[in-house]
Amino acid sequence: MIQHFLPHYPPQLWPPAASAMANEIDIIFVAWCVVLFFLVAPVFGFMAYCAVRYRAGRDVDRSHREARNLPVEMSWMIIPFLISLVFFFWAGDVFLQEQNPPPDAMVITALGRQWMWKFQHPGGQWEINDLHVPAGRPIRINIESQDVVHSLYIPALRLQEDAVPGRTTHLWFKADRVGAYRLFCSELCGADHSLMAGTLYVMAPADYAAWLKHAGNSPSLATEGRHLFVAYGCSGCHGPSSTVHAPDLDGLYDRPVPLQDGSIVVADDAYIRDKILMPKKQIPAGYKPVMPGFAGKISEADLAQLIAYIKSLGEGGEREP
Ligand code: CUA
Repeated sequence: MIQHFLPHYPPQLWPPAASAMANEIDIIFVAWCVVLFFLVAPVFGFMAYCAVRYRAGRDVDRSHREARNLPVEMSWMIIPFLISLVFFFWAGDVFLQEQNPPPDAMVITALGRQWMWKFQHPGGQWEINDLHVPAGRPIRINIESQDVVHSLYIPALRLQEDAVPGRTTHLWFKADRVGAYRLFCSELCGADHSLMAGTLYVMAPADYAAWLKHAGNSPSLATEGRHLFVAYGCSGCHGPSSTVHAPDLDGLYDRPVPLQDGSIVVADDAYIRDKILMPKKQIPAGYKPVMPGFAGKISEADLAQLIAYIKSLGEGGEREP
């Protein structure tokens, strides 16, 4: 059983880069190492020279020189500073790209729990520890945790993001190299932390489509969410036939929502999640804080499905009374 979870790969000092961004991160890393070498080598070289030249017992001139050379002193402060600034903007640019998934990215949910990763595809197909994705397409992974802090780490993409209980984090990538790569949990999360690992399969789009078919036709996240919407009693107030004055959820997703305190927030995944768990935190303008909170009463898996359902309403989905 345990064997099944342990991918057998040789240790890798420098894993292959499976995306353009991973390549760029490598280039920054190597360039930074080269620059550091040229900044540090002269210092240690000169230290070694002085250690030999001025070692005890040697008859050399040890008197202090009073003369200062201002241009030289300024140059070794300003030049390294400017070089570091280049890296600041270069790496900052890559960091911002990496933090902002393209809006058309395919969304996969990753749920971390002791001790496995569960990945769920938009069509509802799910898999444990392994993740199959199409090459050449932006993929956004929304990461959640059912229990403690985990961290999803995919070395071939040079990406790592924590799974934090009660919060949705994300990472995104566009892998362009077909292949099998390792994925890990990189946060010590308990006894079997080291078994919380698997394989990322980057597949040609046609192969991915075939894999999805093979993985079965489980109902989509949104469809499951629609059943939960009724099961948790949400439809009692938010349904079309309800007499309670509750916000209409049709077209809510990604829409700006005016709040009672005058501010405006966008109804994204995080907002919807907060509204379900802690509805009294931010009250929409014109409504009373009458909704009960679901924190501790709903599992992460159910929450992901409910959010997918509410999202689907914004995309012209059908509502079931
Ligand atoms: Cu999960 Cu370590």
